[in-house]
Amino acid sequence: MTRITETSDQWWKTAVIYCLDVETFFDSDGDGVGDVAGLVDRIGYLDQLGVTCLWLMPFYPTPDRDDGYDVTDFYAVDPRLGSLGDVVELVRTAKDRGMRVIVDLLINHTSDQHPWFKAARRSKDNPYRDYYVWRADTPPDTSDMAVFPDQEEGIWTLDEKTEEWYLHHFYSHQPDLNVANPKVRDEIMKVVGFWLELGIDGFRVDAVPFFLEDIGMTGQDADAMAHPHDHLKDIRAFLSRRRGDAVLLGEVNVPHEEQVTYFGDGHQLHMMFDFITMQKLYLSLARGDAGPLTEALLTRPEIPEDCQWATFVRNHDELTLDKLSEEERAEVFAAFGPEEEMQIYGRGLKRRVPPMMDGDPRRIRLVYSLLFSLPGTPSLFYGEEIGMGEDLAADGRMAVRTPMQWSPEPNGAFSTAAPAKLVARPVPDGYGPQFVNAWDQMRDPDSLWSFVRQLVQTYRSHPELGRGTFHVLDQPHPEVLAHCVAWDGRMVVAVHNLGGAARTVPLRVDAPAGSTLESLLSDERLVLDDDGAAELALDGYGYRWFHVHHAGGLRLP
Ligand code: NOJ
Repeated sequence: MTRITETSDQWWKTAVIYCLDVETFFDSDGDGVGDVAGLVDRIGYLDQLGVTCLWLMPFYPTPDRDDGYDVTDFYAVDPRLGSLGDVVELVRTAKDRGMRVIVDLLINHTSDQHPWFKAARRSKDNPYRDYYVWRADTPPDTSDMAVFPDQEEGIWTLDEKTEEWYLHHFYSHQPDLNVANPKVRDEIMKVVGFWLELGIDGFRVDAVPFFLEDIGMTGQDADAMAHPHDHLKDIRAFLSRRRGDAVLLGEVNVPHEEQVTYFGDGHQLHMMFDFITMQKLYLSLARGDAGPLTEALLTRPEIPEDCQWATFVRNHDELTLDKLSEEERAEVFAAFGPEEEMQIYGRGLKRRVPPMMDGDPRRIRLVYSLLFSLPGTPSLFYGEEIGMGEDLAADGRMAVRTPMQWSPEPNGAFSTAAPAKLVARPVPDGYGPQFVNAWDQMRDPDSLWSFVRQLVQTYRSHPELGRGTFHVLDQPHPEVLAHCVAWDGRMVVAVHNLGGAARTVPLRVDAPAGSTLESLLSDERLVLDDDGAAELALDGYGYRWFHVHHAGGLRLP
């Protein structure tokens, strides 16, 4: 595909995704809890930043034992946050600003308080029994399979009343749904259809490998689900039938070569987060060596034309380093989270980017410059644009789920409630709202917010960054990544120095004689010689983006 018009058909290939939790974004009624009406109020802010796709973390009714990832009703809104009416108003307002909205689709499990599970555990012959996965015999030791090893001893829990064990990969209060049951699959389609009908543009699909893996575990409906990926294909076919431009963005943290099976031949997930590249990026940053990142990018498998990687440097969970070797993980821990209180589950970090980079603006900007220039669709977690820090005293992953910091006012102007009533306390100390907030940064052309906004706009005006073919440019410095992405006669060259010492980087670009490299982030210009060569002086942790301009070409930089 090489037409600019196709960038709007496949809008998600050049989108800027922004993930937020309604609960911690903006509280419009002063009860201490963020709400949908509050988010509507802040749509203008997101529009100014240039966000094109909101990803809303779960806002469904919930006992809230996993921050809303434990759902009791897939068709409603947690009354603390608002109503279905508020969500429809949100979707409409977002659309007016050119923003799409995707929501979490939780089909691996429900809360144990969901009416289905309450019914299922009443008796072995309850009609809802087979909505979940049960076993009668004592399970083997599964302690190494529990996703939250600090809380759970394994993935099976005995239901005292019916004396069978039920499956749960996550918490024991989150029983896994039995997707081998056709009735459960029908329920899932209904949920997908419901939200599409309300104007939602797609889904971030939670825990994908887990629910496909469950299939066949109990032998139930084995024939019907002999090919687990058919289940994903069915969801995709249903989604695309209902809404041709809707997207499935999957959470699939498995090695690259396994990950591609979830794209299949282009008829399963449209997009997946690139967990591997994210982890290797941190290894590269820890070492000041571009090698691991470069290798991850070069060994990214080919994916179907109609699929895409989503890039990120932080999300709402632990910053997982589970796919690094033990030694590599130890290096990243030593560099970015040496204290035990900064680490979690033995595999991840509780921290956000700025504190990990010791608050060094050069290194923080380097990270975001990489995020927006590596091939893929960038995804931000709220507060990254202003450089929020974390609250290490908060429990586990809640460290990064603190209230958005709007201004230096009390509670960071997230809420007018008394501090004791807040859903979470704002980040204390040096990264608190007094020092890090949207109000101050939006008025400062040199702030991180203004920088991220520039990255967003430059990314949006250069579709080759989302759609292009990636190449690494040869150059001699191990700490430097020089790459280009090309699409439809356009090319962006980006150069990043992951080391602290200045470097002069010889570049050679495949471009006709007389071409120039026009900086996209400043007014710098490099003239390429007849061999397409030029030299670039980069400071320590320096970065540059260029548009390759052909002599006489009419394209804007
Ligand atoms: C993945 C989500 O990202 C995480 O926050 C949640 O705890 C688990 N799925 C269980 O739903």
